[in-house]
Amino acid sequence: MKPQSLRRAASAILVAASLVIGGAASAHAADGPQPAAADRQAAAEPVLRDLAAAQGIYYGTAVTASKLNGTYGTITGEQFDSITPGNEMKWGSVEATRGSFTWSGADAVVDFAEAHGQRVRGHTLVWHSQLPDWVSNGTWTADTLRTVMTDHIATEAGRYQGRIDHWDVVNEPFNEDGTRRQSVFQTAIGDSYIADALRAARAADPAAKLYVNDYNVEGVNAKSTALYNLVKSLKEQGVPIDGVGLQAHLILGQVPSTLQANIQRFADLDVDVAITELDIRMTVPPTSAQLAQQKAEYKAVTAACVAVARCEGITVWGFTDSDSWIPDFFDGYGAATPYDENFQPKPAYYGIAEALGWVDDGSPDPVGACAVGYAVQSQWNTGFTAQVTVRNTSTTAISGWRLAWSWPAGQSVTQAWNATVTQSGAAVTAANASYNAAIAPGAAVTFGFNGSWSGGNTAPTAFTLNGTACTMS
Ligand code: G3I
Repeated sequence: MKPQSLRRAASAILVAASLVIGGAASAHAADGPQPAAADRQAAAEPVLRDLAAAQGIYYGTAVTASKLNGTYGTITGEQFDSITPGNEMKWGSVEATRGSFTWSGADAVVDFAEAHGQRVRGHTLVWHSQLPDWVSNGTWTADTLRTVMTDHIATEAGRYQGRIDHWDVVNEPFNEDGTRRQSVFQTAIGDSYIADALRAARAADPAAKLYVNDYNVEGVNAKSTALYNLVKSLKEQGVPIDGVGLQAHLILGQVPSTLQANIQRFADLDVDVAITELDIRMTVPPTSAQLAQQKAEYKAVTAACVAVARCEGITVWGFTDSDSWIPDFFDGYGAATPYDENFQPKPAYYGIAEALGWVDDGSPDPVGACAVGYAVQSQWNTGFTAQVTVRNTSTTAISGWRLAWSWPAGQSVTQAWNATVTQSGAAVTAANASYNAAIAPGAAVTFGFNGSWSGGNTAPTAFTLNGTACTMS
């Protein structure tokens, strides 16, 4: 048995033991308290971190530090065993002014991870983007910028020494054709800046695994081959490099067929591999067919990592569509993550779980197509009454439903009938009553509520039923 296979077997045994004694979970997991496994599984939903640990990998998410409370914080803690600060450790966030450091956001992420038995991917020490002006527009010689860069690394990686599992030391060093990106580091210092950065990171935190990370390197192509050649050459020179990060910002229908082979060829260089920023975007609003395809693609990407022993884990770039960079950067695209904007798991979440060995026992999984009718029946100065009809337009019976939507104009539900309605911020979830849990194919249920409004009472136009988007009727 290869060492990596042994590692996975050992990890699975440890997880099994932890389920019995309620202790820490995985072979990799950081020390510290975690929610008891029994508590986390009480919801009868799969728990990604436990499933992943049983496969010898981690499952992580990028997070926004300021959101780590409420439902967002609960899901982050329960479902994931690794977190990556989406922005809080970037150069522009921590050292906007030379020599003056701001750690509050980064500290909050590391503290949260330690309180929830999670590892941290540090992201990122050297990157051409989100750099403060004093670095990107400075006048540098190779020596002066090298010193600035290694000082920055020493300070940041040094501050968190022993608390970061993986550092994305260098991010996005290549152009699409495999040539070096002409970042300020490349132009002032030259090719050697990557080795300099890795050595500085090793000196600052000897235990952290050091990664080079890039996008559009998931399949075998010119860019990933340039990354491959870089890693090979760094290894030959004895430069400390432990892993390669494949970001995996993917588009529905375009998951590279060579993903697993590509992961394997990096592994064969004797480095670890991680999928570091997975999302799969689609045109919005999503159809049921798109969401089903996204499920298959999340499953395939997860399976590709599980299949290669040196693939350490997967991080989704935001676990909920309400915390995803996609809508801000790609007009008309979204729905890229495993949870919808109302924190309801989407089919993609179940696809991940299935790739990690979860078998659906008939409990909540997304249903097929649905159609929702929303009607305001009466309205007065600050209040209104609405009726919602939920029709099962699939060929499969529904036994238990949650309808979710988001208020567009600050409304709130004050009282409901024929459903249990809860609201957090703008996010509303209506769960079936005991007597209307079943919806036969073609049949519909109706519930109603009173709400309050001010300024405007715009109707919601996007609903999901058990995580699947519905059409409006
Ligand atoms: O913090 C300011 C806020 O004060 C201001 O009001 C607001 C107005 O737009 O902007 C806020 O900053 C935004 C920041 O995210 C925090 O939300 C920036 O405009 C926005 O550009 C920035 O986007 C980040 C992006 O990197 C920048 O390139 C995304 O959140 C972040 O998810 C994304 O992450 C990158 C990885 O680091 C590297 N790989 C690609 C990935 C996606 O671009």
